[in-house]
Amino acid sequence: MSSSSTSQPSHDQLATKAQAWSALFSEPMSDLVKRYTSSVFFDKRLWQADIAGSLAHAEMLAAQGIIGAHDLADIQRGMAQITQEIESGAFDWQLDLEDVHLNIEARLTRLVGDAGKRLHTGRSRNDQVATDVRLWLRGEIDLIAGLLNELQLALVEVAEHNVEVILPGFTHLQVAQPVSFAHHLLAYVEMFKRDAERMLDARKRVNVLPLGSAALAGTTYPLARERVARTLGMDGVCQNSLDGVSDRDFAIEFTAAASLCMVHISRLSEELIIWMSQNFGFIRIADRFTTGSSIMPQKKNPDVPELARGKTGRVVGHLMGLITLIKGQPLAYNKDNQEDKEPLFDTVDTLKDTLRIFAEMIGGQANPATGAKEGGITVNAQAMRAAAQKGYATATDLADYLVKKGLPFRDAHETVAHAVKAAQSHGVDLSELPLAVLQGFHPAIEKDVFDALSLEGSLNARNTLGGTAPAQVRAQLARHRARLAA
Ligand code: ARG
Repeated sequence: MSSSSTSQPSHDQLATKAQAWSALFSEPMSDLVKRYTSSVFFDKRLWQADIAGSLAHAEMLAAQGIIGAHDLADIQRGMAQITQEIESGAFDWQLDLEDVHLNIEARLTRLVGDAGKRLHTGRSRNDQVATDVRLWLRGEIDLIAGLLNELQLALVEVAEHNVEVILPGFTHLQVAQPVSFAHHLLAYVEMFKRDAERMLDARKRVNVLPLGSAALAGTTYPLARERVARTLGMDGVCQNSLDGVSDRDFAIEFTAAASLCMVHISRLSEELIIWMSQNFGFIRIADRFTTGSSIMPQKKNPDVPELARGKTGRVVGHLMGLITLIKGQPLAYNKDNQEDKEPLFDTVDTLKDTLRIFAEMIGGQANPATGAKEGGITVNAQAMRAAAQKGYATATDLADYLVKKGLPFRDAHETVAHAVKAAQSHGVDLSELPLAVLQGFHPAIEKDVFDALSLEGSLNARNTLGGTAPAQVRAQLARHRARLAA
């Protein structure tokens, strides 16, 4: 069982072998087909997962007596060297060797001889690639969950400084009722919280081991699959070999969660863009997140939120690509599955970059000297307040006031519509109408109506769970802080 270095083939011989697969083939693959079918220039990013999977497999093979102890030692030594070669950039990735798996295996065999050739015992690239993608994705999900936490913390921090800042809440993008700016930001915290939960839920189904399914039907060797799963920190093993090698639902599920997260980012982007426009002037974002115009010297454009909105389409497109990829495939593995990687990789890259940049754009960067965050969004409370005072945002409060005086809600609604019409014709807010005029709409109206008509009064009155009253918003902030620190 020991490796011999005398029978070691050259790298070139291996490459030729990989082209022609075996003695069965009478001619090598055409160059065009080679380029068409090769994936190494994108799947090489799976190299760490590939080596981790191979090492766990080899340890198990040795423990089960399927390969010898020095085969294992040779494999470990070879993989250590390959790791170092890849990390230093010295590794010679070859198109001829098709993919990351064959590249690493060929190099291993070149380095350690027969032990390298024994590594593939009881394994197929079909269960190998499914394992690699799952291992890699698991790590990325953990990073994404961390970034989602950072973004939530950035929003919470800005919210904490803006509990009493009032802006108009909109429905149909028409002024509806005044809300606390913190309350508005915390709506996004809720969305990103669910996004993180969806990621971690998908992780449970990602973190399951296909290895041991072999090509499709399982293997004749006495593999200890649970041992491999434990070594790799996986939660379990795929229970059906056909399913283990062929389904990519875990990747689809992840991409669906990523799409939803990008959709939330996109909605937030849309708000940032609107809030930044001169007609609103609610916020500014730091100059390093904006760009100028080559022709209009006065411009500062919100390129980052706009791009994020645009990139949302790209991620949703990847979801469509992946789900369609699986649609027509009979069991078990088909080469179609090689097409899972680029959309998945791009989804991960896009989402991670976007989350990172949003956390910083909103919350700012920690000043290394003081530790305080600087350079996040700047809030123009004055402009928000002025906007909330336009558009009769407290009309519902007047109706509620009349209901508390005994009017049925529908009658109160109608009475207030008349009051708004009158205020509009004078170009003033409801709160600016004299008491006598208001009393003309209903005799039950008294001096205390002006408390109800004020922006603060309107907010304070919505003091039920989930409402915008500052007391409620503070309670939510405390809940999020405790949750995000845990
Ligand atoms: N590069 C392939 C993929 O990404 C690896 C599996 C190849 N298996 C096979 N039977 N051709 O799916």
